[in-house]
Amino acid sequence: MGALSAPPVIAIDGPTASGKGTVAALVAKALGFHYLDSGALYRLVALASEREGISSTNAYFLSKLAESMPVAFQGGQILLGEEDVSELIRTEAIGLRASEIAVHPELRQALVRLQHGFRQNPGLVADGRDMASVIFPDARLKVFLTASVAARAERRYKQLIAKGFSANMEDLLHDLKQRDARDSNRGSAPLVVAEGAKVLDTSDLSIDQAVKQVIGWYQSLAECAQ
Ligand code: CDP
Repeated sequence: MGALSAPPVIAIDGPTASGKGTVAALVAKALGFHYLDSGALYRLVALASEREGISSTNAYFLSKLAESMPVAFQGGQILLGEEDVSELIRTEAIGLRASEIAVHPELRQALVRLQHGFRQNPGLVADGRDMASVIFPDARLKVFLTASVAARAERRYKQLIAKGFSANMEDLLHDLKQRDARDSNRGSAPLVVAEGAKVLDTSDLSIDQAVKQVIGWYQSLAECAQ
């Protein structure tokens, strides 16, 4: 499918707890677009592989598992087979394991087709680390959403507490820095500001302001294209 005929994509990448998931989902809702939470796929493989006793260093079995994983996104639910794992995949432990296994190029390759499948009319908002750089390099709008480490740790803290998980600020700061370093320094599809991406620092922005900014950018691009 050529870039001209393919449904438009808004790619939103950024570090952990930058708010990209919330912003991306709201932008998708406002525009009536589909939504891909690519991090959820890595978290699903992290959960499923842990259950199967597959080591986080075993790239071959991890990618085989990813190819055969019975995943479904239904409404707001994420299903693994018949089981609703939407909440189970959100723990810090699964997030850390996700970033450990995400270093393997074989696993990243195994998840490409699944991610491309989300690109459907009228359009897609995709969030992750490599949406603009690797998965949808022809995205119409590329956004790099970030925030200070302190703002991100505070957001993650509130998010975990709201979900009923226990959380400790010091541990969170430590995990966050560890995950930033691993995601940015890995050889395969590291977290980078893609060429042509607009950087949005949300440290002092409300969710609503961030959503409006992204939609504003998208609309002005769409007007230019007419
Ligand atoms: O919610 P948070 O930003 O902490 O993480 P996530 O988006 O759910 O992703 C979990 C982990 O999966 C990240 O730390 C990355 O290591 C990995 N990931 C990735 O490598 N590529 C993506 N496109 C999305 C996530």
